[in-house]
Amino acid sequence: MKPIRWGILGTGSIAKAFAKALNETDGELYAVASNTLNRAIEFSQSYKCKAIEGYDNLISMDEIDAIYVATPHTSHFELSAKCLMNKKPVLCEKPMTINATETMALIDLSRKYKTLLMEAFMYKIHPQTQRVIELIKERLKGPLQIKAEFCFSVDVPETHRLVNRDLGGGSILDIGCYPLSISRHAVGAVNDLNFMNPISIEANGELNDQNIDLNASASLVFEDGSTSEIKSATNMQTNSNVEISDGKDTVFINQPWHCGEFTERKSQIRIQNQLGEDEFVDIETEKGIYAIEIDHFSECLKNHEIESSLVPHNDSHGNMIALDSWRKNLKIVYDDDRGEKRRIPIVQDISKRESLPTLKISGIDKDLSRIVFGCDNQSDTNHAFAMFDHFYKNGGNVFDTAYIYNDGKSDYYLGSWLESRDLREEVVILGKGAHTPDCLPEKIRPQLEETLSRMSTSYLDIYCLHRDNESLPVTDFIDELNALKDEGLIKVFGASNWSLSRFKEANEYAKSQGKEPFSVLSNNFSLARMNNPVWPGCYSCSEDNYVDYLRENNVAIFPWSSQARGFFLDSQEFTGLAHVADPNQEEQKRVWGSDDNLERRSRCFELATRKGVDPIQLALAFVLHQEFPSFPLIGPRNFFETESSLQASKISLTRNEISWLNLK
Ligand SMILES: NC(=O)c1ccc[n+]([C@@H]2O[C@H](COP(=O)([O-])OP(=O)(O)OC[C@H]3O[C@@H](n4cnc5c(N)ncnc54)[C@H](OP(=O)(O)O)[C@@H]3O)[C@@H](O)[C@H]2O)c1
Repeated sequence: MKPIRWGILGTGSIAKAFAKALNETDGELYAVASNTLNRAIEFSQSYKCKAIEGYDNLISMDEIDAIYVATPHTSHFELSAKCLMNKKPVLCEKPMTINATETMALIDLSRKYKTLLMEAFMYKIHPQTQRVIELIKERLKGPLQIKAEFCFSVDVPETHRLVNRDLGGGSILDIGCYPLSISRHAVGAVNDLNFMNPISIEANGELNDQNIDLNASASLVFEDGSTSEIKSATNMQTNSNVEISDGKDTVFINQPWHCGEFTERKSQIRIQNQLGEDEFVDIETEKGIYAIEIDHFSECLKNHEIESSLVPHNDSHGNMIALDSWRKNLKIVYDDDRGEKRRIPIVQDISKRESLPTLKISGIDKDLSRIVFGCDNQSDTNHAFAMFDHFYKNGGNVFDTAYIYNDGKSDYYLGSWLESRDLREEVVILGKGAHTPDCLPEKIRPQLEETLSRMSTSYLDIYCLHRDNESLPVTDFIDELNALKDEGLIKVFGASNWSLSRFKEANEYAKSQGKEPFSVLSNNFSLARMNNPVWPGCYSCSEDNYVDYLRENNVAIFPWSSQARGFFLDSQEFTGLAHVADPNQEEQKRVWGSDDNLERRSRCFELATRKGVDPIQLALAFVLHQEFPSFPLIGPRNFFETESSLQASKISLTRNEISWLNLK
């Protein structure tokens, strides 16, 4: 095998450590790139390689086989994205990016360009960490109590990357990522998983004038009851040890992050039992920690992998999601966390769109994409803008929002995105209001006006009452909605979570008075039938008499939980990049867990295997193949879930297959 020829981006302290470590491996340092030619020359003279001015010039060099990104965090996304788009395997320094949305986008590029992407989390690859994980599996039982710290004290000017907001400064991103990472791994180990993500994070910290953390701590809670107290600091020295206990045995690691790199490559793990007796495991390696990392990356490259098994993509993404929460707890925000302020958009060229099947509905002169994006799961404007751009680029143009979603931020995110992309007239907005306890005719107008103001738009394409109030006559609702339509505030209106009898009654009244009836319905509809409402006051329209009515009256539905909240997700697919809306078994059993649904699920899995698609895609295709217009809502948290759902529109189902899936 020819040696791997490396290029390094950046000439700082870790770039030097890496260049030195390459001497211990079969790799060859081919070139270094700097913003400044002089720095590149100086570096190249010390480490014997070519000097390149400008990162882009190195990324495009044919001679380079792999690139190491060793620049401040704020540039990791841009540089790694360029590497991947040039099909250059990339080892990117930790943290992979500034926020989880950027990491998601890099993983997407790695998959699309079939190019290796690995976060340079060197401690994870070291044999010491592997041994710690084995010891946890062998000796401890969950739930765990963990204490993990990475703290040091430096006196640096305000411009230094460690404390400078514009360079992604702060102890959480720079070193907090380590104690967070080991906590997730330790809890994963006692649950037979590679890692587990915390379900709650409560933080404290000390911030500087730039609103950047000089030190920060966090209490993590995991679903299995494990807890972890983690800490990071750049203005305070501590032992930076890790202790992992199950209340009986405790594993102590006193070189958790450098793994003996500065103690002649020797370190020790101590295990103390409940009697206070100690046992020691000695670790010694021939090679240094960075050489071990480079060897592992080279192995992945030689095996044509696009991700490492020791630092897999979903692990990097999960760590970044938790880092985002830790920071947000302390209100630490970088410019690249704001969709409207980003220097480089996460999704490029959104005007170059894919096509998606569309349908028209009466009253709206735009074509509507058959799949609708639900806007209630976005964590900030950066995440929202990226998810909306990605859906739009993939052919989608219908967005579902509601007055109460995300405390009003759902409307706001959508409106800001439409304004910044100048897409209002291309997009169909389905908005909802008057949710219980405000399901009153007099609340419809003020809530709608607030929604329009949050979105800076003068109308909604589709408006639905979010709930029904069965103590009031249907007439009051129909009259009020007709008035709003006549004023041009809404084009088309409908009902969400209305029973068949009330929906019928409302439309019969409208017709008798020559008024506009409900023309759309947004109840639950999915291959699995809802046995009990997911939330109080919810209705499905999957029952046979409702389906007959929809077909006979050609009512368009915009069903929520169209994939039954993960009921059709193969547990093997639950990799950290896919999610179930509520993984809680109680909900799964209460809402979907009937014998009929289990049979539908098993048929869905069987047919999906025959068709070579995922069961959850097939379940969505079922919703698309009804004898009335259907526009299922999806609630993706990441690009991979959006793309998986959109594939459903390419699946063909015969009438026989639909009947068989539905136990007919
Ligand atoms: N895994 C580890 O053990 C480890 C240890 C330390 C750091 N790191 C990570 O490695 C990355 C770099 O850290 P470092 O300690 O090497 O930083 P550093 O010493 O400050 O060096 C960063 C280099 O990036 C380049 N750069 C590009 N844009 C820059 C800007 N606007 N301001 C300053 N420098 C800029 C500079 O090189 P040119 O301008 O010459 O290109 C600079 O020498 C960080 O993401 C950090 O988290 C990892």
